[in-house]
Amino acid sequence: MSLERLDQAAIHALRESENIEFARTHLRSLELRERGRASMPNGVPMSWMTGLYEHPTIFPDTGVGAWFTDVDGHRYLDMNQVDIAGFLGFAPEPVTRALTDRASRGSSYLLPTEDAIAATQNLAERVGLPFWQFTGAASNSNAELIRLARVYTGRDRVLMFEGKYHGDVVDVLGRVDGDGPRADTPGMASNASRGEVTIPFNDMASLEAALAAGDIACVLSEPMLTNFNIIFPDDDFWPRAQALIREAGALLFFDEAHTHSFAYGGLVNLWGLKPDAVTVGKGLGSGVPFAAYGMSADLAEVYEANSRPPSPIEDGSAAITTGGTTYASALIMAVARAALEECLSAEQYARVDALGIRLAEGLEAIFARRSLNWRAPLIGGRSGWVLGPELPRNTVDSAATMDIFFSNTRRVFMANRGIWEALDTAGPACSFAHTEADVDRYLEVSEEFVVRTTTPA
Ligand SMILES: Cc1ncc(COP(=O)(O)O)c(C=O)c1O
Repeated sequence: MSLERLDQAAIHALRESENIEFARTHLRSLELRERGRASMPNGVPMSWMTGLYEHPTIFPDTGVGAWFTDVDGHRYLDMNQVDIAGFLGFAPEPVTRALTDRASRGSSYLLPTEDAIAATQNLAERVGLPFWQFTGAASNSNAELIRLARVYTGRDRVLMFEGKYHGDVVDVLGRVDGDGPRADTPGMASNASRGEVTIPFNDMASLEAALAAGDIACVLSEPMLTNFNIIFPDDDFWPRAQALIREAGALLFFDEAHTHSFAYGGLVNLWGLKPDAVTVGKGLGSGVPFAAYGMSADLAEVYEANSRPPSPIEDGSAAITTGGTTYASALIMAVARAALEECLSAEQYARVDALGIRLAEGLEAIFARRSLNWRAPLIGGRSGWVLGPELPRNTVDSAATMDIFFSNTRRVFMANRGIWEALDTAGPACSFAHTEADVDRYLEVSEEFVVRTTTPA
């Protein structure tokens, strides 16, 4: 019902004219893309770089703070921040300094550096879990944790929530729907995805039923879902779920790859949650690719007991396979330390919170001026567009309050006005580099878009 006010004819006409304008003004990017096709599928080195955008991709040139320029000379205010991986803004000075300094002294040794102690102690203090490991991406952190959970519990299955995304590794790419278990993606072995169970978010009865069989090794979830627009937990969901999960002998892992950008120490810290492990990722917003996971002392004990040695050759037992040649390099540990000690302070999170309020209140004011019963969710610096009167509690609600064609039209409309908008299932977010003036610019263009794409009340 809430989508009734979308003026589909106006949206389609606008999309066509905006696409033409975009193509006309991005000739150099289009040319590079065509050249790229000779050596890269789709003309890009990683499929998301084109698959996330319905308009042709652009080639950036330079980014500083909240803004970047492309090779056609356009300047963009970035309201997506590399899907959280750039929430410190482009080229944050402490990170650039740490990179330059460490690279000039050797970036990788397959040995620990002292920075690792500072970074992991900082993470332990802010997140509240004592032991940490580093990986290359949040996908890998989740995969290692799931392996550890299986060893710890002696059980196989992983319970996740509908609307999840936990990365591109086998263990998190399955689900259960009306047709039974199935893979989220082509290319999985035909007997894969038997270990995954998915249930609706905020559904205590389904959680209880899924845990009843006693075969769940771990529950893996974001504290709130962020990959299907924004879905908040009910107030009592996690307190009750935590107790149920513990009673059932399963472990609780929170994936804070996105949500650690919403609050100092992540939502686990903000909401007082008590998981057995937490994943952080996306280079802590530094723009440098790495991830980590924190674990309880109990889990760390099992981790140590199952690490190399023992050698599989000597005594027949095998260590859990974890790690990677380039993980936790001297370079990464220097960046992590600089980001944690010099950028990710409680004061800076509080500054971003204030910008988030300005953004969400500004969007709701726009909706109200147009008499639209839409909502703008708010968490940290992130907001969003919920095209309905209530914030969604699960993916069914969320799908009913989204219109992907509308979001994608908004993105090209914004790109033509110097704003790089979010992914179609994510909302706009303020980075550590945004200012009030940046938020106001986003709101100005948003209002113009709303007026042009909705029917008057
Ligand atoms: C919640 C969550 N977990 C894990 C991942 C995977 O992160 P990466 O792509 O860095 O492996 C993502 C990626 O968007 C994510 O949103």
